[in-house]
Amino acid sequence: MQINNSRIVLTGAVGGMGSILARALHAQGARLALVDANAEALEVLAKELDGTFAASGDLSSAAACKQVADQCLALLDGVDMLINLAGVNSFTAFEDESPEKMELMMHVNLLAPMWLTRAFLPAMQQQNSGQLVNVGSIFGSIGFAYFTTYSASKFALRGFSEALRRELADTAIKVSYIAPRAVKTPMNSDAVMRMGEATGMNMDEPEAVVAKIIEAIESDKKDAYFGFPESLFVRVNALLPRVVDGALAAQNRIARAFAKGEK
Ligand SMILES: NC(=O)c1ccc[n+]([C@@H]2O[C@H](COP(=O)([O-])OP(=O)(O)OC[C@H]3O[C@@H](n4cnc5c(N)ncnc54)[C@H](OP(=O)(O)O)[C@@H]3O)[C@@H](O)[C@H]2O)c1
Repeated sequence: MQINNSRIVLTGAVGGMGSILARALHAQGARLALVDANAEALEVLAKELDGTFAASGDLSSAAACKQVADQCLALLDGVDMLINLAGVNSFTAFEDESPEKMELMMHVNLLAPMWLTRAFLPAMQQQNSGQLVNVGSIFGSIGFAYFTTYSASKFALRGFSEALRRELADTAIKVSYIAPRAVKTPMNSDAVMRMGEATGMNMDEPEAVVAKIIEAIESDKKDAYFGFPESLFVRVNALLPRVVDGALAAQNRIARAFAKGEK
């Protein structure tokens, strides 16, 4: 979809990738409604980007998502694109994961995109155009040890995107699922960064990932997996998961010490 002049709602807008993506979309002429939990930072960013609206809200409940969506629809006088970028992760052994954190991750990473899509879809259906962009992760195709709940949330987001794309196939509304590999943003704790270094995990610069997200949006990609060999492993994992079990075994043993806070 063309970005210039499109009415775009972007969640996670003040995050590591979000702020870069917001500036890039604005530079290309998008009419933006930016959404994030951090109201103060959101106001600052919206002020910086002429003509941009801020709609702050905690996306971890259905009611808040509906409220934010209604606010965005009023501010932009409709919607052409929803980019579900907000997310939370957790790097821990599953026995140490709290039920509250599990719930939060499923709410923000999976249900918020679903609730927001549900809220924006009727407007898109009425105009018979629109683009729904869900930012997942390579961990949404390769279950990653010590990111177990996060992986589960992104697997589900991928399933939602695929099913909805098929459901809307006879309309002009497009659904994209975009899966970056690890990115150097505040989402990744110091323990993740040290584990990444110790295991040789590839980590991209957020600017490079944002450029690829924009390219995927402009070329209406149904799905996009960033980085080699990760994009190849996604295919291998789908066909031969036992091979990937073996390939990741040594890395998982190193990761455990970081996840348990022993390193
Ligand atoms: N970084 C990576 O390695 C990586 C790799 C693959 C995919 N991704 C995905 O890319 C997306 C962006 O990640 P990022 O690296 O830019 O992360 P980030 O820097 O942590 O930014 C995430 C943003 O989401 C917002 N957010 C979190 N919970 C929210 C809630 N309940 N309501 C509203 N906003 C909320 C955060 O706001 P607050 O700061 O105010 O909480 C933050 O601004 C995520 O979906 C992530 O899963 C990231």
